[in-house]
Amino acid sequence: MSGPAVGVCRRFEGRVAVVVGGGHGIGLATARRLAAEGARVTVLDLREAEQAAAGLAADGLAVTGRELDVTRPDAVRDRLAEVRDAAGEIDVLVNSAGRLALADPVALELDDWRHTFAVNLDAVLLAAQAVLPAMIDRGGSIVSVASIGGLRGGPGTPAYNASKAAVVNLTRSMAAEYGRHGVRVNSVCPGWVPTGFNDPLTGTMTDAQVEQLVRSRVPLGRQGTAEEIAATIAFLASDDAAYVTGHALVVDGGLTATF
Ligand SMILES: NC(=O)c1ccc[n+]([C@@H]2O[C@H](COP(=O)([O-])OP(=O)(O)OC[C@H]3O[C@@H](n4cnc5c(N)ncnc54)[C@H](O)[C@@H]3O)[C@@H](O)[C@H]2O)c1
Repeated sequence: MSGPAVGVCRRFEGRVAVVVGGGHGIGLATARRLAAEGARVTVLDLREAEQAAAGLAADGLAVTGRELDVTRPDAVRDRLAEVRDAAGEIDVLVNSAGRLALADPVALELDDWRHTFAVNLDAVLLAAQAVLPAMIDRGGSIVSVASIGGLRGGPGTPAYNASKAAVVNLTRSMAAEYGRHGVRVNSVCPGWVPTGFNDPLTGTMTDAQVEQLVRSRVPLGRQGTAEEIAATIAFLASDDAAYVTGHALVVDGGLTATF
């Protein structure tokens, strides 16, 4: 079966969107999806932001890109102010930048823990702080990419799992705070998506071994695609989800339904 029919709806016509971590993977697929549905999109990423945006622009989409290291608080504020100056008030903020630290809790270095939290959690707060004052006046939507690792424990990635759990609950807290102002705040919790992000986890396993593992564990029998996660993010960001806020939407092929 093919993926969602991108561009059929125009749910973001006239809207301004920012995808933090949009240079690659799920964020890039989200930038494409939002732009295909009419948004003017800015991609912010540590690497490949401008190349990613140029690739989408070559397909006729209204996407620009700027470099941003989300671990630099001033840079997050400055970049989002620049987007506002150039494109207008931000209607949709997507947080997709992520970092995976592989170490058991005893071996985990404090710097590694802090760096993981800076990318996965602090950046969500900083970006939200930059866009919320205007959104409180005029409405808006924030969608952050958490993980099923934020809903379940698991060995080897304690900093990642803890930071993603915090994203889920920061999301709920911001939803509770700003719902009355017309601002919706949601998260998505993907399962396994082959963007390269999980390569450190699968280590020396071959692609065939990974697929065999996925088939044995995931009820739908396969990994998700970045486009499928992007479709869910677009749904949450759109008016189709007008009565959805504070939600953590699991997109994992049924993995967390099984244990
Ligand atoms: N791939 C999966 O299986 C999976 C599952 C659950 C959740 N996620 C989450 O999805 C999000 C996107 O991951 P992905 O799978 O697309 O991986 P990816 O590696 O393709 O994308 C992550 C992006 O984050 C950017 N980034 C990292 N550090 C940054 C920094 N300091 N400043 C700015 N940008 C930075 C990277 O440059 C990259 O473009 C992440 O938050 C990840 O935790 C992924």
